[in-house]
Amino acid sequence: MNDKIEQLLAALSEMKAQKEQDIEDLRVRMLGKKGEVTKLFEEFRTILPEQKKEFGQKLNSLKNAVQDKLDQLRDSLEDSEDGAASFDLTKPGDKMDLGSRHPISITREEIISIFKKFGYTVAEGPEIEDDWHVFGALNFPPEHPARDMQDTFFISTGDNPILLRTHTSSVQVRSMEKMDLPIRVLCPGRVFRNEAISARAHCIFHQVEGLYVDKNVSFADLKQAILLFAKEMFGEHTQIRMRPSYFPFTEPSAEVDVSCNICKGKGCNICKGTGWLEILGCGMVDPNVLEANGIDSKVYSGFAFGMGIERIAMLKWQVKDLRNYFENDVRFLKEFETVI
Ligand code: PHE
Repeated sequence: MNDKIEQLLAALSEMKAQKEQDIEDLRVRMLGKKGEVTKLFEEFRTILPEQKKEFGQKLNSLKNAVQDKLDQLRDSLEDSEDGAASFDLTKPGDKMDLGSRHPISITREEIISIFKKFGYTVAEGPEIEDDWHVFGALNFPPEHPARDMQDTFFISTGDNPILLRTHTSSVQVRSMEKMDLPIRVLCPGRVFRNEAISARAHCIFHQVEGLYVDKNVSFADLKQAILLFAKEMFGEHTQIRMRPSYFPFTEPSAEVDVSCNICKGKGCNICKGTGWLEILGCGMVDPNVLEANGIDSKVYSGFAFGMGIERIAMLKWQVKDLRNYFENDVRFLKEFETVI
């Protein structure tokens, strides 16, 4: 029995496996029902009691050695398979899921690149602002409803409360404080309003606002800038119309619609049968705003405009529900993989 154990141990070190089946064959030959090691265990039952201790130990270590050998053969087979694969240059690669740009980023970059051609630079400012930069410097009367708790998330109260900005016009104020005249600036960023979340409204959204201050800036310049923007954004045949409106910081003020390029003005459910889609608010900077920011309104004039990025993206890609932008559902995001 001793000889047999020694013989099997010696043979074990010589064993090699080319494939999975070789390992399985070896296992059956050694540990299977009629295997060499199994047979030895059967023989072990018949030996003299005083020899049991010695042979018991030898048999157990033989069994462990066989098990170790099987594991070792299996590991080296797997390693060599991996190794072979990494050198097989003809094998197709694994598909890697790449991320894509968010539709809000794509739209923001497109708006910015259009206005950059007209000489605008980009300015950013804080999302947590004070009352002066969001309302005071923009000619909001103290009792204006936009300052109301209904619309604004206030962080502190007092003479100049701290709040979350409700529009990026605050960055226009900061630009007027810092920049030399003439000013041509675009202010993209996140804004916050205390509104219930639905398919058409959200308490967080994104804007791009613009400001141009120079000598002799007129309403005709504003109209031309918006028309050129609309054509670049929505297509060469896009028309615009302006409707009188009111903002505390512009006078006169207007809301701008673009012709619906889905029904070509005939009326559809996107434009609710009107043939027009509202895209932005704008106007001539109120002289009070220029003066509040240290600009002589007798020498300088300017225009400003502001648009919601979500809304522009909705119109461009017919996104029906604003909440899609915030939920990060990859099925929605993948739709924009090929846009840029
Ligand atoms: N600040 C306005 C808003 O958030 C948009 C606007 C900007 C209107 C500039 C006119 C001029 O709704």
